[in-house]
Amino acid sequence: MDEMLGGTRITYLGHSTFRFATAGGEQIIIDPWLTDNPQTPESLKQVDALHTILVTHGHFDHFDDVIPLARQTGATVVANFEISTYLMGKGIENVMPMQKGGTVQVGGIQVTVVDALHASSIAEEDGTVVYGGEPCGYVVEFESGFKLYHAGDTGIFGDMRLIGELYHPDLAILPIGNQVLMSPFEAAHAARLLDVRHVVPMHYGTSPFPVPLPGTPEELREHLSSIAPETAIHVMAPGDDLAS
Ligand code: NI
Ligand code: MN
Repeated sequence: MDEMLGGTRITYLGHSTFRFATAGGEQIIIDPWLTDNPQTPESLKQVDALHTILVTHGHFDHFDDVIPLARQTGATVVANFEISTYLMGKGIENVMPMQKGGTVQVGGIQVTVVDALHASSIAEEDGTVVYGGEPCGYVVEFESGFKLYHAGDTGIFGDMRLIGELYHPDLAILPIGNQVLMSPFEAAHAARLLDVRHVVPMHYGTSPFPVPLPGTPEELREHLSSIAPETAIHVMAPGDDLAS
């Protein structure tokens, strides 16, 4: 694990929000939901320097802190065309529109946009729902060559095998909450399709939350043992680090 990370630090901020610190000293956040996220430790809600924000889709539990953080830090926001356009309309200038298939160097990391099987919309405060384009996942390659795949919100899909074949992620961060995305059973099969050796579960057990997310890491561990026995599971509590 230490060798694999190559100086990258991964911090779990709860639900689907992760902060990555690169060996070169850059800070990246994916799907920032901090202020109202019941899983985020109080001491980690404050963000200082930030270079890059990655957005998988427009749902509140992935998007709520994108605008405040972009304004506060001036970080580059990577998002699909529709969300990028929405952000520019809100006065966020430092956006990098991407779509599935694209690979771009953003500071010290290389970012590839991959598919996700979900929905994407942005709810305005007055209840208006804005079309948020297609949801996505990200493959992120760090300076050391360490590669992770953050699946965003998704059900399982067959082209996870293609993501494995093309990008060989070392670590996959997979949702397991069930009901609105993969169950632990599907996530174990996702690990098999990806042919990935390390998995971190996310998007489960959040409360309060509009829908139940009953999937558990224990269920994932159980399914992995028969479906993808080569894959190790790393259960992170909010606030935990994976670091070398
Ligand atoms: Ni969602
Ligand atoms: Mn979600």
